[in-house]
Amino acid sequence: MKVTVIGTGYVGLVTGACLAEMGNHVVCLDVDERKIRVLQDGGIPIHEPGLDVIVQRNVAVGRLQFTTDVAAAVAHGTLQFIGVGTPPDEDGSADLQHVLAAARSIGAHMTDYKIIVDKSTVPVGTADRVREAVRGELQRRGMEVEFAVVSNPEFLKEGAAVGDFMRPDRIIVGADDERAVLLMRALYASFTRNHDRLQIMDVRSAEFTKYAANAMLATRISFMNELAQLAEKVGADIDMVRRGIGSDPRIGTHFLYAGAGYGGSCFPKDVKALVRTGQEHGVKLRVLEAVEEANEQQKHVLGKKVVARFGEDLAGRTFALWGLAFKPDTDDMREAPSLVVIADLVRRGARVQAYDPVATEQARLALGDVAGVSFADSAQAALSGADALVIVTEWREFRSPDFDAIRAALKQPVVIDGRNLFEPALVKAHGLEYFAIGRANAVPLKT
Ligand code: UDX
Repeated sequence: MKVTVIGTGYVGLVTGACLAEMGNHVVCLDVDERKIRVLQDGGIPIHEPGLDVIVQRNVAVGRLQFTTDVAAAVAHGTLQFIGVGTPPDEDGSADLQHVLAAARSIGAHMTDYKIIVDKSTVPVGTADRVREAVRGELQRRGMEVEFAVVSNPEFLKEGAAVGDFMRPDRIIVGADDERAVLLMRALYASFTRNHDRLQIMDVRSAEFTKYAANAMLATRISFMNELAQLAEKVGADIDMVRRGIGSDPRIGTHFLYAGAGYGGSCFPKDVKALVRTGQEHGVKLRVLEAVEEANEQQKHVLGKKVVARFGEDLAGRTFALWGLAFKPDTDDMREAPSLVVIADLVRRGARVQAYDPVATEQARLALGDVAGVSFADSAQAALSGADALVIVTEWREFRSPDFDAIRAALKQPVVIDGRNLFEPALVKAHGLEYFAIGRANAVPLKT
């Protein structure tokens, strides 16, 4: 099939590349000329495991092209995916200007039947606004061309996005138009050969499903983070509690990890946007308001633990910080807890020596010229001369460290772990003081 994807960010690029991989002919359009040039030259502007190979393979055989030429891109695809950003507005609602601009571009150039697919996360009712935008452009041109607007929200985890697209748990398609449903079924048939994972529903339910999924997952995390606070006070270990409750199939094991707060481009933005949608309709979403507030607090948990151990005044102290990206396997720094941790430490006069396997450049951009932060080339190098180690992101390479080397490098044998990576007894057996999230002195130091 002929597919056009508008927007070459995480969502658009993964969508375009994976659809090309399944034999479709895909043109990816972006207004950012620099990004398109990088892609045309074989580069990938983001860090996403496995994406580079797929992009290069499909570019080489001519199934995947990148362009800034709007007219040519719109002419190409019967299916026009919109995968542009929907950043939060000042009031928390999703900013739809890029989505609507993409819709107007389609309306301004289309001459035959198109299925316009909203892939970006957009509030309920956006498909109607996309339809109006396209219709407005067609009217301006004095043309009558048939088109359908479909909602097909993405469920791509950064760092695992290619796998999520190629082997989806479910594909949600919201459509009110038979012809569009048939074509969407055909497009996704090769991704769902063994199990029918396609769920067809009305457009508004599909749009809502995406927010509901992210809101539920964010709720689980904030819930566990709050219980973790209590676990520390009552002398329990939240990781034991997690295992205990996760084995109940009604609860399940996923997304129950207490930590330093959730970040990224989706959860914080989508929870805020859903709360905002509720307000617009006079429905107070109390649970989600609390989910958001609990997460804002949670991002300060590591700073508080440092203060509890080293005191309010951190002048003259240096902290090694492992992990900057909002989660492993990405260089994405959007809403990353590390930004809050660094701000909390630096504000009290501390220096930070940070290390991240891939996100250093993005972190430099996100932090700007904050004084007192330097970047190390390796996890071990970040420890050199530091008072203590603070772990913010659970990269795999941090999971089995040489604890003796950590103790030898640090001025004080203190590890503050925001992701509960280690067995407390093991860390303590190496002579390190170990502070984690929601794990009181549940496991005493063995001597
Ligand atoms: C998420 C959704 O999972 C995906 O379906 C959607 O399309 C986009 O948003 P992503 O933002 O890439 O994907 O990250 P995800 O792996 O879901 O993690 C989000 C945040 O939650 C991270 O900061 C992570 O560290 C945190 N998290 C996750 C926890 O703190 N505890 C957990 O148990 C799970």
